[in-house]
Order: sequence, then C-alpha cells, then structure tokens
Amino acid sequence: MSTGTPRLLSAEGGIAEAASVLRAGGLVAFPTETVYGLGANALDARAAARIFEAKQRPSFDPLITHLADAADLTGLVRRVPAAVAALAERFWPGPLTLIVDRPAAIPPIVTSGLETMAVRVPDEPSARALIAAAGVPVAAPSANRFGQLSPTRAEHVVAGLGAAVDVVLDGGPTRCGIESTIVDARGERPVVLRLGALPVEALVEAVGPVTVRPGSSGQPVAPGTLAAHYAPRTPLRVVGAAESAAGDGGRRGLLAFREFPAGGDWAAVEVLSPAGDLTVAAARLFDALHRLDATGVTEIVAERVPDTGVGRAINDRLGRAAATWHQGG
Ligand code: TXA
Ligand code: MG
Repeated sequence: MSTGTPRLLSAEGGIAEAASVLRAGGLVAFPTETVYGLGANALDARAAARIFEAKQRPSFDPLITHLADAADLTGLVRRVPAAVAALAERFWPGPLTLIVDRPAAIPPIVTSGLETMAVRVPDEPSARALIAAAGVPVAAPSANRFGQLSPTRAEHVVAGLGAAVDVVLDGGPTRCGIESTIVDARGERPVVLRLGALPVEALVEAVGPVTVRPGSSGQPVAPGTLAAHYAPRTPLRVVGAAESAAGDGGRRGLLAFREFPAGGDWAAVEVLSPAGDLTVAAARLFDALHRLDATGVTEIVAERVPDTGVGRAINDRLGRAAATWHQGG
C-alpha cells in the first residue's frame, strides 16, 4: 500500500501541467477509452523504469506505447507492414493495439527487451491532447498494481497506486471499461494476442479471418494474458448462471449479467446490464468488481456472459480473475 496521494487534476484543465510532468520524467495516470493508463515518456528509459516500480510489474511484461495521432506511427517506426497500416487506418483512434518493430528511439526497457513494440492511439480526446502536449510517445500500462483489477475511474488509480504516481488526470469513468484488443498483423494472418474492447467480429469484417491465441498456456506471448490476472482481492468463481451457485449461506457477492437473482442468499449484488447490452456490461465490469471487492464478502460469484462480441473479452477477464484463486492447489 502506498501512502500519500498524487496530485489530482481535471482532464480538461490539467493537460499542460501533466504534460510537463511527463516531459520531466514523471508518471501521469490518464483516462483512455478503455482503462486508465499509467504514463511515462516512452523515449526515457528511467521514466519507463519508474512504471515497473510503481506497478510492481515484472520486467518481462512489455508496455504499450501510445501516440496522439495515427500519422505519428510512420514518423516513429521505419517499416509498417501493409496489414498493420490498414488496421491502424480503420480502427485508430480506438481500442486496438498493434505490434510493430521496435524503433531504435524506444529504449528496450519499454518492450522488455523484445524487438517488437505494442502501439496504439487512444480514442479519448484528453489522452490525445496530453500526448500531443508532451510531444513524446507515452508508454502506459493499465494504472493498477500488477495482476490486480484494472482501473476505470480516477478513484481506482488513487486507491491502487497512491503517491507512486505523480499526477492523476480525472476524466470520469472510462467509456469501454475493458482493455484494448492486441493484434499481431505482421504475418500471413492476423493473430489476436489479447481479447479486448474491439470485438473479434469487427476485425474479421475488416481484414478477413484471424487467429485468436490468447496465450493462456505455456510461455505468454502477451504477458498480460497470463492465466491468472485482473484479480480482485476476494476469491472469485465463474458460473453459467446465478441459480446454479445460490444457496450455501456464506457472505457471498454476485456479479450478475442482466437479472437481479430471484433467490439465493447474496450479501451484495451487482447487475452489469439489465438490458443485456454487452458494451454496457464491459464498461461496468471492473467498476462492479471493485465495488464487490470493497464489500467484504468472502467470495464473488460471477455469471458468464454470452460469448459474442465484447462478451468474449468479458469472459476472458472473468476466467483470468478466477484462475488466480483456483490454480491447481
Ligand atoms: O487498453 C489498453 O491497452 C490499456 C490502456 C492504458 O491503453 N493498456 C493496457 O496495458 O492494458 P497493460 O500493460 O496492462 O497490457 C499491455 C499488454 C500486456 O499483456 C503486454 O504483455 C502486451 O500488452 N504487450 C506489450 N508489448 C508487447 C509486444 N511487443 N508483444 C506482445 N505483447 C505485448
Ligand atoms: Mg493491465
């Protein structure tokens, strides 16, 4: 637990000050359309090192570099494969992260020594204004401690990282609520390395068949796709429907998809989307988990959602949160 508090600035008024903190090698947490990012100057190895320290993130887990504008990619990266350029053109700004060759200007610590770099342009005006004002690419993982729930509000960042971050830009709750989809489109057929806010169906519609390889076994391709990740402090279990889990009388919390449970003895209930809208459910997922985590229940039971569109990414995150608590012994 960190003590102290970071400087909290509004996303409208605080851009210039936050940008100067970034230029000076400091850490700035800022909203994107997916989750809050913990940003540092991506050209500055010492600043990037502070990200790993603040998050207590293992050095083998590479960072995503954020750009203000899609046009900035060609200035940074010498060779952009046609399929990568096509996806950037189609989906940036937006919740899609693409894999490219690491440019010499980006120090190896940012990519954990990989010769490739993950890059995206966030679809959030204040984020793009911040990056543009800083005048440098911004390396930013999600602004949480490694392995814990992702932050979708400034309050989550302050509670999780405290004074380990210099400035938090508060832009309110994030719109998508779930991390970007990571795609390696350098080869013959694009490979989805992490399911995320941009649905697989949208990718397929744009570029044809893709391979989904969330890397959940063996050596992680995208280490954020470690089987156990995104976990609340409370043990979490995933079920098909709430009925099948109701009834043992413990102080349990329920993360329901659309319906408030008719029966069952729940100490706390969060309903993601009464209308059954998966986009709304994704936007509320981590916030609801943060709240259930704070209620002091002894177990969180989470309902699986329909495995389509962004629902696939929701189920992926629930599965990884559960894996933290149910890994063979
Ligand atoms: O929506 C998002 O992507 C958010 C916002 C802040 O942009 N960022 C985010 O960062 O989720 P993070 O660090 O929590 O997850 C980044 C993922 C990790 O799983 C990492 O292993 C993977 O990206 N990654 C980074 N560079 C990579 C590379 N060169 N090859 C494969 N995976 C990479
Ligand atoms: Mg993360």
